[in-house]
Amino acid sequence: MIVGKYPSLRLRRNRKSSWTRKLIQENTLSPNDFILPIFLIDGVNKKQHIKSMPGVYRYSVDRISQIIDKAISKGIPMVALFPNTKKSLKNELGSEALNENNLVCRTSRMIKKKYKNQIGIMCDVALDPYTSHGHDGLIKSDKILNDETIQVLINQSLLQAEMGCDVLAPSDMMDGRIGKIRKAIDQNNFQDVQILSYAAKYASSFYGPFRDAVGSKSSLKGDKKTYQMDFKNSDEALREVALDIKEGADMVMVKPGMPYLDIIKSIKEKFKIPVFAYQVSGEYSLIENAINKNLVNKDAVYESLVAFKRAGANAIVSYYADRIDKIIKQST
Ligand code: PBG
Repeated sequence: MIVGKYPSLRLRRNRKSSWTRKLIQENTLSPNDFILPIFLIDGVNKKQHIKSMPGVYRYSVDRISQIIDKAISKGIPMVALFPNTKKSLKNELGSEALNENNLVCRTSRMIKKKYKNQIGIMCDVALDPYTSHGHDGLIKSDKILNDETIQVLINQSLLQAEMGCDVLAPSDMMDGRIGKIRKAIDQNNFQDVQILSYAAKYASSFYGPFRDAVGSKSSLKGDKKTYQMDFKNSDEALREVALDIKEGADMVMVKPGMPYLDIIKSIKEKFKIPVFAYQVSGEYSLIENAINKNLVNKDAVYESLVAFKRAGANAIVSYYADRIDKIIKQST
């Protein structure tokens, strides 16, 4: 409700200088709001630039400490691990997902051993970094199989939990997977492992650079529209979230981020559950390239991130997380 009337009321009065703007500001950002995605690659002493994501790198396991130290020192509470799996290790079934010496498992063990509980580890539950066809699940006659895929996701979840993963993040969009994963990990004494469900994950063009980063872009056959959501829908997102909460999700993710602020807001208002936003690779690359070309200034980053808080997100997965202290300092 708007009360007051011009000219006795002038909203510009509260904006007249920086100190008063600080007092009336409704949202702020802190490094504690961020999750840092890390791309992993095989080999030794590698820090490999990802061309489609300026400023983002793939690290070999022996160099992970460098980035984890940085994240901890800045106050980032959690990292998310994403593997760039060698082509020779990919197959139709994505079996490398169940190899206890795969990149994610080796890295999780290393981080837990060295850093204990100083930082959380989040692992995607999905098969796309491991399948030769680039899909998140198993395929039969061009169909992504739901229930058969869940069986593999359960095993992937159990393995990741065993390796030290704190937060399992199913990003596959199969129906019913949250309940089945929750049940299986509970039965194996992983009651404390959290589930962050990618509940509202849309079939989006904004994942392009990520697929390049994990090496699934060239192999992806077709699109993901039979399991990821149609971006024309919002009621459907609420149904997805409602089901995942019933099945045992501790937190839910909305993805991509910026084009879906309305979804973040309505989930938060309806369910009062922790909602995370994923500022995905395409959003990152658009902003970063625009800054590099002087089309927008650097403050665009801060603006894009505050938008998530304004919409109601509790935390943000962002490729800017490793630089967030500088971004906050520079733009406030
Ligand atoms: C895979 C997964 C994707 C992303 C995170 N997990 C890509 C996809 O669904 O194709 C995208 C992240 C990004 O674009 O930054 N299940």
